[in-house]
Amino acid sequence: MPKREGVSLSVIKRLPRYYRFLGELLNRGVTRISSRELAQMMQLTASQIRQDLNCFGGFGQQGYGYNVAALHKEIGNIMGLDRHMPMVLIGAGNLGRTIARHMDFDSSGFRLIGIFDNSVHIVGQTIRDLVVRDAAELEDFCRAHTPRAAVLCIPKEVAFETTQRLMELGVNCFWNFSHYDLSLDFEGVIVENVHLGDSLMTLSYQINEAYPKTENQK
Ligand code: NAI
Repeated sequence: MPKREGVSLSVIKRLPRYYRFLGELLNRGVTRISSRELAQMMQLTASQIRQDLNCFGGFGQQGYGYNVAALHKEIGNIMGLDRHMPMVLIGAGNLGRTIARHMDFDSSGFRLIGIFDNSVHIVGQTIRDLVVRDAAELEDFCRAHTPRAAVLCIPKEVAFETTQRLMELGVNCFWNFSHYDLSLDFEGVIVENVHLGDSLMTLSYQINEAYPKTENQK
């Protein structure tokens, strides 16, 4: 697939949402949908949907709308969901375990092939079908299995050194939960920093706007 220049991050961030809504339509047996109907469902405008999809070459047909199955598949291809990039997870504490157990890596473009921790209480446990390995084995494992991506669920204090170590082993794509903005330090890495707290504070902002605090709540 040719490299696309200039697709804005906000368009890229909407792709998973298109994919999810189209998947739901498919499950309901809907075969085609107009941009107006899709826009209504997704609380966007029809012109925004057309503009977004035009970044990737269109896909709709005048007077027909979108073929739901074809568009769902095409957006999946654009996101590389059938790629199964080998991925390791570092830090099998509360968050790491939850992510390893509940995320659907296989249908999101990845394959979780190894879980690592440095605690004697956690190494050796089985999560999903993977035995948690000692972080000291990371070098040998990466040389043997060449993962390119990592999920980081480690404390902030060790995020920088762990990323450096992984980069030396050929890992340069990070799904980073460690409360450390990796993209600020490492050039050439592909990072998705995730902060659930930011999302919660965004909710708080909206509540604050809708229901301003009264004097005695301050
Ligand atoms: P936790 O303490 O339960 O798990 C951290 C795990 O990392 C432990 O099992 C520990 O043994 C392991 N670890 C520490 N240093 C390591 C190293 N150098 N190599 C390999 N493993 C190492 O903590 P929890 O609750 O799972 O949170 C993990 C991190 O994620 C924390 O920094 C927390 O602040 C952050 N967090 C981020 C969220 C987000 O939305 N981004 C949400 C919740 C937590």
